[in-house]
Amino acid sequence: MSELVTKEQIVRWMQIYAERVAAAKEMLTELDAAIGDADHGINMERGFGEVVLRLPELAQQDLSALLKGIGMTLLSKVGGASGPLYGTLFLRMAQGASGKDALTVDEFVAGLEAGIAGIQQRGSARPGEKTMVDALLPAMESLRTTLASGASLAGALTAAAAAAKAGMSATVEMQATKGRASYLGPRSVGHQDPGATSAWMMVQAAAETLIES
Ligand SMILES: Nc1ncnc2c1ncn2[C@@H]1O[C@H](COP(=O)(O)OP(=O)(O)O)[C@@H](O)[C@H]1O
Ligand SMILES: [Mg+2]
Repeated sequence: MSELVTKEQIVRWMQIYAERVAAAKEMLTELDAAIGDADHGINMERGFGEVVLRLPELAQQDLSALLKGIGMTLLSKVGGASGPLYGTLFLRMAQGASGKDALTVDEFVAGLEAGIAGIQQRGSARPGEKTMVDALLPAMESLRTTLASGASLAGALTAAAAAAKAGMSATVEMQATKGRASYLGPRSVGHQDPGATSAWMMVQAAAETLIES
């Protein structure tokens, strides 16, 4: 049987990610203190904490309703720019999941790609502008390439997490031209982008979910 991404795995991904975000709250907030308004960890913990609370109820429904519920929760519970952006990722993923309880690997990857395209449409960030996009796009490219070479989804997500981490590290040398950090102009250089950091953690949590199941 070909590999599937199940509803239970999406639930587990969110649980693992919420744990990681809660543990990294101070770190994410410190990164945001340097080039933003010191709330990224707080925003992410609030948003994904609320997602976890809603998971039991959302998991009663199909995958599309689950993903939509995650997206709407992030949209409504996270005050910062990151909430609507991460919310868009899950709302776009929901569009291809209607009536399903599992996705094929191709459907899952297409959903992620549509989600990242949605983030770019909503925030209009291109690569190199020191945002979450700088972690997400390299992850996506790596995922596609590694899957095409015949790797399992778990293996491909592990490689994608490494690519996201490299993308995250590359934001240190970038000057922010989108979001709050852009107000600092050249003074934003030398700091790691908080959103690229939480985005790397999201890919890493997805890899861990697939490895454990
Ligand atoms: N236009 C954008 N496109 C993509 N990502 C963005 C954009 N604006 C901000 N971000 C991301 O959001 C992160 C900040 O999130 P957060 O602190 O929660 O929101 P806020 O900036 O409103 O306080 C940034 O580090 C960056 O990665
Ligand atoms: Mg902030």
